Amino acid sequence: MTGIYPKINPQSINANLGLKQHFDLTKSFENDHFGTWSKLAREELFWHKDFETCFSQKEYPFFSWFEGGKTNISYNCLDKNLEKNSQKTAIQFINSNQEETNLSYRELHQRVIQFSNYLKKLGIKKRDFICLYMPLSCEAVIAMLAIVRIGAIHNIVFAGFSATALAERIRDTKSDWVITADLAYRKGKELSLLETCLEARDESDFKNIIVYNRSGNCEISSLEKSGLKFYKFENYLSEDFTKDSIEWLDAEDPSFVLYTSGSTGKPKGLVHSTGGYSLWAKLSTRWVFDLKENDKYWCTADIGWITGHTYLVYGPLLNGATCFFYEDAPDFPNKNIFWQLIEKYKITIFYTAPTAIRTFMQWQKDHPITQDLSSLRLLGSVGEPINPKAWKWFYEVIGNSRCPIVDTWWQTETGGIMITSLIGVDDMKPGKAGRALPGIEVFTDTDNKLYIKKPFPSLARTINGNPARYLNAYWNNEHKAYLAGDSALIDEDGYVELQGRIDDVINVSGHRLGTAEIESSIIKAPHVSEAAVVSIPHEIKGETIIVFAVTNGATTKDEINEQIKDDIGSFAKPEEIFLCKALPKTRSGKIMRRLLKDIGLRKFPEGDISTLEDSKVIEALIEVVKQQL
Ligand code: WTA
Repeated sequence: MTGIYPKINPQSINANLGLKQHFDLTKSFENDHFGTWSKLAREELFWHKDFETCFSQKEYPFFSWFEGGKTNISYNCLDKNLEKNSQKTAIQFINSNQEETNLSYRELHQRVIQFSNYLKKLGIKKRDFICLYMPLSCEAVIAMLAIVRIGAIHNIVFAGFSATALAERIRDTKSDWVITADLAYRKGKELSLLETCLEARDESDFKNIIVYNRSGNCEISSLEKSGLKFYKFENYLSEDFTKDSIEWLDAEDPSFVLYTSGSTGKPKGLVHSTGGYSLWAKLSTRWVFDLKENDKYWCTADIGWITGHTYLVYGPLLNGATCFFYEDAPDFPNKNIFWQLIEKYKITIFYTAPTAIRTFMQWQKDHPITQDLSSLRLLGSVGEPINPKAWKWFYEVIGNSRCPIVDTWWQTETGGIMITSLIGVDDMKPGKAGRALPGIEVFTDTDNKLYIKKPFPSLARTINGNPARYLNAYWNNEHKAYLAGDSALIDEDGYVELQGRIDDVINVSGHRLGTAEIESSIIKAPHVSEAAVVSIPHEIKGETIIVFAVTNGATTKDEINEQIKDDIGSFAKPEEIFLCKALPKTRSGKIMRRLLKDIGLRKFPEGDISTLEDSKVIEALIEVVKQQL
């Protein structure tokens, strides 16, 4: 879509960050980058002890923000809001049966103190890693806030990951503790999370497990596993809430680690800080979502992804907002459930993903949206580019051509939103995410690689246990800047149009997956000697996985699917699998993925194939694909 469509006059919106404030802030960053960050940090966060230096760097690229300062995210989310908002609803949770739980700031504060006392009593200390494998629930939010309150480090693993993937993440942090639920409800089915954790125990050696009795029928006294100790989650409710076990943390103490896919088979555990992360979670939420006193804010992400961390839990709570969330899928119990919830609970801000938007567009054909969505005032999108067709539908059908859309670009690494259009400042340009937020400077090189120029407080500090990989993946470049891993074009107004990844990371339904990760799983299937994974565009999922597996025996596609399900999870299931005898390679042995992509798209491979070692391989592959039609 060309031009600006449609025109919302930013000046007509009384936004938290309007034109004047934006102008002043941008100037202030230009004049004194670090002075401005210091000022914001002091204004926004409670510091138990003030920091001495804003920014320091001992060894490139490892930097520190707000050194000398002591604070706590949980305190900033809860205690800091008690004076003004103690009776206000902090979280409103709707479970699969449409039952509602509301916790005010006062109640959430008490529960978090109780749970943190419980964790301390169980012997958990500052800097211990705790793995969470939980359904979306109030209990998961309580656990997160309690863990950071005592200075332990949460490692949330999305509950769709398999036992093997879970075990790998537990091993990488050498965690002794797992918190899970007996089960999760998904589309009328029961998923046994506890069983998956027990399977993961066979491949890792955590020693303790806290089980939330989601079903109401879990009898942990009857469970046994050699050397594994079981604790009931619910026991926290008998802990004292008048005695607080808060730890005042250094600004640079880690708050959490979150694993994401990179270019190799091994996921990266990105380590986030305490001070810098919470400062940006707070500011970016208030600026981008324009949170006001009476907003009802719904972010549809799961806590297992960074969006769930920053914009379901920490960002909104740091701002004293009311966060709404729903336990089940968007098509359970029916395909209009999201609109029914928006109508019933008068949601004002709705933040979701393009893949969901495209799915809603499809469903709407048979399930007309008749609900009253007039409470909405702002819509948001994250995870992949939102194509203009989906943008237009979201804008017109869900937002009734009234609500601005913020298309937010960011990453697990950046901790918070870097690029978007601000509703009080910028026009929207569908297909382009927008401009960099104040304090953030982006640029592209001659290959259109996107970089962030200066360090900023919310950037992940390292990769758990692998600082060399952190340096190489992001900082080892001639610009001495943070390499984002995306390709982009920046227009004359500074609007960034994202064009996908430049590395071997693919984005299926907003889930980031490494091709190397999937390939190393496939070659474990019987008789598979080699595999190549490529992605091709998909109308709903954005991208989808195509597998080429070289087999020298009777491998079935089901076996490959099973292997991926076992190693990663069902969400990584390929769209198509082609069993073949050889892969196209260069003379130096590199797989020519570009050719495989073309074949997956049913196109005769275009471009130069002179480097191909054996051109017959292509003909054979085309035959395989034809036979599969
Ligand atoms: C992609 C999710 C275009 C991008 C918050 C990035 C986007 C990766 C957008 C990070 C957007 C995210 N437009 N692409 N608005 N938002 N991406 O770590 O490729 O799961 O590098 O973080 O998603 O995915 P991650």
